[in-house]
Amino acid sequence: MVGDCVVDALHELGHEVERYTGGGTKAARLGERQAALVICSTTGIGDLPQNVAPLHAELASERPALGQLRYGIVGLGDRNYKESYLGGPKKWDALLAELGAQRVGDRLELDATDHPTPDLDAVAWVKQWVTTLG
Ligand SMILES: Cc1cc2nc3c(=O)[nH]c(=O)nc-3n(C[C@H](O)[C@H](O)[C@H](O)COP(=O)(O)O)c2cc1C
Repeated sequence: MVGDCVVDALHELGHEVERYTGGGTKAARLGERQAALVICSTTGIGDLPQNVAPLHAELASERPALGQLRYGIVGLGDRNYKESYLGGPKKWDALLAELGAQRVGDRLELDATDHPTPDLDAVAWVKQWVTTLG
């Protein structure tokens, strides 16, 4: 839902956007991209959602150099999960940084306990974030 709203907002601003919702490294083509926005929630105990877990695992094992990539993170979680709070987005942040990608801006952290409208909050944040990509 958050991804759909963000894609619509970026289209309205005139940006070309390709939406990835699963399919591994071939579908994601991160090595060819200049910018990526990761929108990821957390499930299990700090785990990645099923649709993106294979991509994360493939990248962690293939370890492509992603020095050309700049990325942002919109993370969803719930602080009641304490130690595993935002585990999904944090896993992305750690892996992309390890592979040489450069994060642009701070992570947007959407705690479900005080963000009843994560789609609106994410859109507002992304509109600002995208201007910092240059
Ligand atoms: C089964 C389950 C496990 C969850 N585990 C975590 C967790 O470990 N850490 C966290 O920060 N949030 C956790 N959450 C909260 C979700 O990440 C949060 O509610 C998010 O907004 C859900 O988005 P989604 O339903 O689109 O995946 C969990 C939610 C569910 C239903």
